[in-house]
Amino acid sequence: MPSLLAWSLIVLALGPTVLGAPSSSEYVRAEEATIWLANESEIALERILSNIGRDGQYARSAEPGIVIASPSTENPDYYYTWSRDSAVAVRTLVELFRNGKSGLQTHIMNYVDAQAILQTVSSPSGSLTSNGTGLGEPKFRVDEKAFIGGWARPQHDGPALRAIALIDFGNWLLDNKYEKLARNNVWPVVRNDLSYVAQYWNQTGYDLWEEVSGSSFYAASVQHRALVAGEAFAHRVRDSCDYCKSQAPQILCFMQSFWTGSYINANFGGGRSGEDASTVLASIQSYDPAGSCDDFTFQPCSPRALANHKVYTDSFRSIYALNKDIAQGAAVNVGRYPDDVYYGGNPWFLTTLAAAEQLYDAIYTWNRFKSLTITSTSLSFFRDLYSDAAVGTYDASMSTFKDIVAAVQIYADSYVALVQSYAMTNGSMSEQYDKTVGTQISARDLTWSYVALLTANMRRNAIVPQPWGKPNFSSIPSICVATAATGTYATAQVSPWPSTLTSANGMTRAMAMTIPYAAITTVAAHAQRPLILL
Ligand SMILES: *[C@@H]1O[C@H](CO)[C@@H](O)[C@H](O)[C@H]1NC(C)=O
Ligand SMILES: *[C@@H]1O[C@H](CO)[C@@H](O)[C@H](O)[C@H]1NC(C)=O
Ligand SMILES: *[C@@H]1O[C@H](CO)[C@@H](O)[C@H](O)[C@H]1NC(C)=O
Ligand SMILES: *[C@@H]1O[C@H](CO)[C@@H](O)[C@H](O)[C@H]1NC(C)=O
Ligand SMILES: *[C@@H]1O[C@H](CO)[C@@H](O)[C@H](O)[C@H]1NC(C)=O
Repeated sequence: MPSLLAWSLIVLALGPTVLGAPSSSEYVRAEEATIWLANESEIALERILSNIGRDGQYARSAEPGIVIASPSTENPDYYYTWSRDSAVAVRTLVELFRNGKSGLQTHIMNYVDAQAILQTVSSPSGSLTSNGTGLGEPKFRVDEKAFIGGWARPQHDGPALRAIALIDFGNWLLDNKYEKLARNNVWPVVRNDLSYVAQYWNQTGYDLWEEVSGSSFYAASVQHRALVAGEAFAHRVRDSCDYCKSQAPQILCFMQSFWTGSYINANFGGGRSGEDASTVLASIQSYDPAGSCDDFTFQPCSPRALANHKVYTDSFRSIYALNKDIAQGAAVNVGRYPDDVYYGGNPWFLTTLAAAEQLYDAIYTWNRFKSLTITSTSLSFFRDLYSDAAVGTYDASMSTFKDIVAAVQIYADSYVALVQSYAMTNGSMSEQYDKTVGTQISARDLTWSYVALLTANMRRNAIVPQPWGKPNFSSIPSICVATAATGTYATAQVSPWPSTLTSANGMTRAMAMTIPYAAITTVAAHAQRPLILL
């Protein structure tokens, strides 16, 4: 790792020739932030495990495998398990497990079993049997009983996210010769969720922030990804998913209608302007590192998603006092959406980290394909970071490629630097930090804040998710139709697990490194730290 002196030398060497490049203080700040990021990742995993029943220190009254959203029991009371937050957390645990954190196995197996139980709980949303409407229930009590109070129901993204997490684990089982476990323990839970997605994706529901009812881009994106991955998984466990196959292309078709021409409109219904962190979350959660920068699945490096990144982040520049002295083109604190009023409307840790993660994903793909394209759609995004940016395709051997990638890397690291500024010295991160003074507010130790930190750290270190079979433009139907399909709902039996799962391939961690990662420029090569899983 270069010393700060070496950094100043690199910066001096580059400084005068690169227009619009980050200043030397930005390099130094970004470098410090990435040291912090690696350290904070260890804390983040610890805190996530603290929020999982029954051994987690903040989740002792939760059943095994139940993930609480936060230990906070009042103002706000988040001591519940949300299908969405839990799935996003466990998906990340599965990713760490796949990359060598074998100690996470028990938590993942407990989660699978807990979900088999939760799927059968009748709630105000309905039940599992007959029509599956119970799967749209957003949250449950930690003792696996229904929450019967008033709430924003139903929410359609939860089953899709759970399917994605379970399919990732199921694919690991299949890759490591545990076909029976994938088939008997995982697939029956997944099948219920895929059936729900296929049946209800084209009906209105509440968005991920539990506020507006309508159609959500985020929900559509994760539903599409779940059905595509689900169909492939069904075949791997020697079953089939015709309802996945029939509905996925229609969801992809519907997703195109959220593109406004300059950014992604987060929702139809709800009367908002549409700039929203959920669109960035959709992009990073549907990242396929084997695929190119295509606009149709809104890949993180796609012109549409980059243009959207700019419009979304710019929408917070003038509304938070915390962003007052930050120049255009430098990272800003970002929240859910500009007109947010929850706790007064503030930046969130998970959203500021998501802004970084999208850029790390993009960098990975540009390096992997050794090429970067600027289109008229993405030009304004690049101009902010590199004032000479022009429409064109830049090969990795060109200095423009190297300079742009270096500028994007520093820009991404600067989002992490903001998070570092507002995290507590003991590493704790709540849900939000005050838009004026930066103190932490709302739910303490939010599980999702830590998850967002871990995924940002992995992407920065070129540890990327498994490819999920992203389709291409030619698989979008020419006409979008309102449609649905009916699958199968059946109680998944909780089946025994072996006490240890061993990788048939030796250290799985090595596999993550087989996707080539080209060193880019002196600056970026140094900025790209050696592989630190945690
Ligand atoms: C699901 O089934 C329940 C119970 O039969 C019924 O009340 C409800 O209207 C059904 N919902 C849908 C969306 O089909
Ligand atoms: C259902 O799909 C059609 C076709 O894509 C779309 O026009 C409509 O808005 C969708 N409705 C909902 C509620 O998702
Ligand atoms: C890493 O985190 C620990 C625990 O919070 C802290 O004591 C230590 O100072 C941190 N180290 C760095 C380099 O940030
Ligand atoms: C971190 O520090 C804060 C402020 O001192 C404290 O309230 C909180 O309990 C600490 N968090 C943990 C997990 O120790
Ligand atoms: C694009 O998708 C279609 C339909 O799934 C498939 O037949 C075709 O081979 C794909 N083309 C490429 C280049 O991947």
